[in-house]
Amino acid sequence: MEAVTAPGKRIIMMCMAVAALLVSLGVRAGEAAPTAGAPAQELGRGFSAVHDTSYPQFQPVLSDPTGVFALGFLRVNSSLLDIAVLHLPSAFPLWRAIPDRPAPWSAAASLSFNGSLVLTDGATNQVLWSTPAAAAGDRAVLLNTSNLQIQSSSSPGAAWQSFDYPSDTIVQDQNLTSSAALYTVDRRFAMRLGSHYFGLYIEPPPSTSRGVAPAMYLKHTALEAKAQIEIGPNGAPIYARVEVDGFLGMYQKEGPPADVMSFDTFNHGIKAFRRMTLEPDGNLRAYYWDGSGSRWALDYTAITDSCELPTTCGAYSVCVPPSGRCACLANATDGSGSCAAAETGSSGLCGTTGGEVGGLYWTVRKQGVEPVNKELLGFEHAPSAEDCEARCARNCSCWGAVYSNGTGYCYLMDYPAQLMVAADERRVGYFKVRSLEEEKASTGGRAAAGVKAALLAVGVALVVAAAAFGAYRVWDRRRRTEAETMRQMGTDGDGLSPGPYKNLGSFSSVELSSSFNSFRR
Ligand SMILES: *[C@@H]1O[C@H](CO)[C@@H](O)[C@H](O)[C@H]1NC(C)=O
Ligand SMILES: *[C@@H]1O[C@H](CO)[C@@H](O)[C@H](O)[C@H]1NC(C)=O
Ligand SMILES: *[C@@H]1O[C@H](CO)[C@@H](O)[C@H](O)[C@H]1NC(C)=O
Ligand SMILES: *[C@@H]1O[C@H](CO)[C@@H](O)[C@H](O)[C@H]1NC(C)=O
Ligand SMILES: *[C@@H]1O[C@H](CO)[C@@H](O)[C@H](O)[C@H]1NC(C)=O
Ligand SMILES: *[C@@H]1O[C@H](CO)[C@@H](O)[C@H](O)[C@H]1NC(C)=O
Ligand SMILES: *[C@@H]1O[C@H](CO)[C@@H](O)[C@H](O)[C@H]1NC(C)=O
Repeated sequence: MEAVTAPGKRIIMMCMAVAALLVSLGVRAGEAAPTAGAPAQELGRGFSAVHDTSYPQFQPVLSDPTGVFALGFLRVNSSLLDIAVLHLPSAFPLWRAIPDRPAPWSAAASLSFNGSLVLTDGATNQVLWSTPAAAAGDRAVLLNTSNLQIQSSSSPGAAWQSFDYPSDTIVQDQNLTSSAALYTVDRRFAMRLGSHYFGLYIEPPPSTSRGVAPAMYLKHTALEAKAQIEIGPNGAPIYARVEVDGFLGMYQKEGPPADVMSFDTFNHGIKAFRRMTLEPDGNLRAYYWDGSGSRWALDYTAITDSCELPTTCGAYSVCVPPSGRCACLANATDGSGSCAAAETGSSGLCGTTGGEVGGLYWTVRKQGVEPVNKELLGFEHAPSAEDCEARCARNCSCWGAVYSNGTGYCYLMDYPAQLMVAADERRVGYFKVRSLEEEKASTGGRAAAGVKAALLAVGVALVVAAAAFGAYRVWDRRRRTEAETMRQMGTDGDGLSPGPYKNLGSFSSVELSSSFNSFRR
């Protein structure tokens, strides 16, 4: 067995992986012919691929030279269409385009290249997503790092690359820069770089972005052990990168990293493909691909204490360590099992007229609680709990204050109570809870108009959906006829096979289970 050299082994494993993948994606030998839509190695100007819904989960369009990654049509959230770069052996999407208005999986969409990559809805001719026209090139290729690039013959480097627009994942050798961020698929949580650190944040829901700040729940600061980070006008922005040796490095320039955040297998000599993902529960985890076990081996978890995870307890609740049991700050529930009203208002805490606080919220006082992320919050010195509370009460952007009788620290929160944990009785909390009753009363007219607008939107959506369905049926009938013809001719028209889609199934169920509202559990 020693006769098989390491590169030989790699090739054998790669072939096995590709074979497994072809089976798992329902690609049949007969489909490998270019005419039947085998993934291309390069897309030139004029290329166009039509979405074929007979692929149950993923239709590859462009493949990397090693056959480990592919760009194609991906089914997400059980019935929606996206464009994604998949790690084929695991069917894990490393990058997703995430169009603003997602089309249904059944849409007669096409992915074309005219200098830019363009996803078009064939029924309406609407552009659903495209790379920027300013970053046009001569060809699109998928590199063996999973980086999708648009390249131009006239200039070196890429006109556009997917590595600069991550979704929830960075892979090894991909720079996460301060001009990008990782977002969970539902955009509830984000990972962003600061001057010399990275942070994880609870993002305010779009409807409440006025008056609610992102809540930082983890901060990793560069240790500057190996190099000095220069902060300030002369300091270059930092970037982070997952390295093959098993760590997340933070850099200000190439060379030794300014910070090494090591994974479990740091320097264990494991040369496997690595990724780091901001997962739907708000945790940041790193994995490497264990080819022999055909699994992503967990290698790093940013948050191990469940009370420090924002998804353990929702807003207006208190987490009790170490069990992670949740209790409501107040008795109030909105009937959905979450504590207090979901955060749906958009007026901020001072109302639309600005100035005076009042009417729009009620307050809760609770002893024995503190923010689990208090080190990340600013604090002021206050002589008493009453004084601390008053500073928050008169401040329109303050949602809560916790006073520590021991230290005299007054912690102020600029987001609705989140990440509260049980603490000793000398901590006194004061929290604003938006009053939905008041909101309704003071904005009754607006609410009614809002309902009308929503009903109208639903109506329009139904009409559009009906039209799309009609178009789909016509298209589908045509497609079936074609498939039938091909079958009669003795060729395999489609690759439907219900079996091996477990990975993809669990992937979409993870997405399904994540709710859109940051302030619910
Ligand atoms: C995904 O599905 C869930 C549950 O059906 C839904 O709440 C959510 O809005 C969907 N996501 C998108 C992007 O449509
Ligand atoms: C490519 O197609 C898109 C959508 O039709 C269009 O907006 C864009 O200008 C085209 N780009 C080029 C270089 O023709
Ligand atoms: C990826 O491609 C680069 C050159 O483009 C090459 O040096 C490297 O060995 C390749 N890696 C793998 C795993 O094929
Ligand atoms: C990452 O950043 C470094 C430094 O700017 C650069 O040399 C390298 O090409 C970048 N890598 C990718 C894949 O963009
Ligand atoms: C909360 O519940 C307790 C007992 O169930 C009750 O005495 C108290 O008045 C309630 N508080 C509020 C604010 O409703
Ligand atoms: C109001 O509260 C916010 C959030 O806690 C804080 O950043 C700001 O400095 C406060 N403003 C004043 C005038 O105290
Ligand atoms: C805070 O400390 C003072 C002085 O020790 C004490 O009188 C007061 O009762 C304490 N308040 C709370 C809420 O524990």
